[in-house]
Amino acid sequence: MSNAGDKSGSIVKAVRGTRDLLPPDTELWNRVEATARAVFGRYGFGEIRTPVFEATELFVRGVGEETDVVSKEMYTWEDRARAASEKAQQLTLRPENTAGVVRAYIEHKLGETGHLRKLFYIGPQFRRERPQRGRYRQFWQIGAEVIGPQSSGSESAIRDAEVLEMLASLLDELGVKGWRLALNSVGSSNDRPRYVAALKAALEPLKATLCEDCQRRAETNPLRVLDCKVPEDQATIDALPKIADYLDEASTAHFAEVKAALDACGVAYAVEPRLVRGLDYYTRTTFEFTVPDGSGLGTQNALLGGGRYDGLSEMLGGPKAPGIGFAIGEDRLILTLQAQAQEAAAKKLDAYIAPLGAERNAAALALARELRRAGLSVEVGDGSFRLKKSFEAADRVARRVVLLGEDEVTSGVASVKTFATGAQTKVERDKLVELLSVE
Ligand code: HAM
Repeated sequence: MSNAGDKSGSIVKAVRGTRDLLPPDTELWNRVEATARAVFGRYGFGEIRTPVFEATELFVRGVGEETDVVSKEMYTWEDRARAASEKAQQLTLRPENTAGVVRAYIEHKLGETGHLRKLFYIGPQFRRERPQRGRYRQFWQIGAEVIGPQSSGSESAIRDAEVLEMLASLLDELGVKGWRLALNSVGSSNDRPRYVAALKAALEPLKATLCEDCQRRAETNPLRVLDCKVPEDQATIDALPKIADYLDEASTAHFAEVKAALDACGVAYAVEPRLVRGLDYYTRTTFEFTVPDGSGLGTQNALLGGGRYDGLSEMLGGPKAPGIGFAIGEDRLILTLQAQAQEAAAKKLDAYIAPLGAERNAAALALARELRRAGLSVEVGDGSFRLKKSFEAADRVARRVVLLGEDEVTSGVASVKTFATGAQTKVERDKLVELLSVE
């Protein structure tokens, strides 16, 4: 071992894909978590904390052997036996928390009360993915699950809509701008095999034209073809059969009810037939919330994802217990909030009105009132400023400066300079709002 003074010893750094969270960022993390806890409390959720590692089998059976998460991304090891009486065990750092929550639901017989259980969690998850902005090997999720016996109403579309409405409220309360909800139904275990068979048949003559990954997926797990992001493949994939055409009556009615409830709550959504999500336990409703480009996430624009998993409990050896839930990528949420705050701070006003001479101040204020009433953001200078000072002050806070001298006041023609281009123009007063509105 090298001692502390040994300059030849290299520095030990955090492992690739992991990060330290430091102040002041941690203040934002804590604020986000406090807001989530408060919102979850208003909807009757209680906190659950499950172990960070579980038996590997839980994820193989729950999430699905063919998924990328299980087949490529899990941190799995054999935990040595410490005594002759102990067996070695395959363990895995949890790549997600839904399987763990459902395991706990079964293990603690949480369904026996007959009531609906509403559980939330906040904690680290682990996936061996290629690290990039918004994608880490240890990342945090804020998630929640609603699960219970059928008699508790756990299968009802009202649960789906309530979870989605809660998410919309949470994102609004946190101040996330421009989020978009993509919604789909992937059908029940009854619909899926028919759709997968149709997809497989449709892919058969086309697969040679698709990327290498899709050629493999067409065989092993055709649904995953729909997740493909390779630009050349998109037109072919868009033309493949749509799951909506393979839903049975019950699934179609369930989806219609979810949409009607969202409409009633005023939560906007876009139906996306290709949204099948990467985990095998999903049935019926699936969803993702994304944020617009430029929100600090690069290509990783899925802020959160979730859906219904009506058969998961039985897949894990438990009783029938339909459920629905979601997980927010907390790292991505924080990046978004930071990027959007920066953008807001950097956003300049539409105009700065520079009165030329103190006697023009009143006219400047009157013009500012007119422009603000038209919806523009405006700052007014002071007629005592010299022209250079007015320009500097304007450039700091606004995209354009409107000069108000005697000529402008009498002729009703304004002189406007656009800082980004340096262009200076004279415009009629009735064209001023239009010009100043151009970004
Ligand atoms: P998921 O879509 O795999 O779903 O992950 C949910 C969210 O976690 C993603 O939308 C993303 O924001 C974040 N996330 C995933 N991988 C990473 C990563 N490597 N780095 C940073 N953030 C990441 C689930 O995990 C399901 N358990 C959600 C759920 C709950 N479904 C039903 N209940």
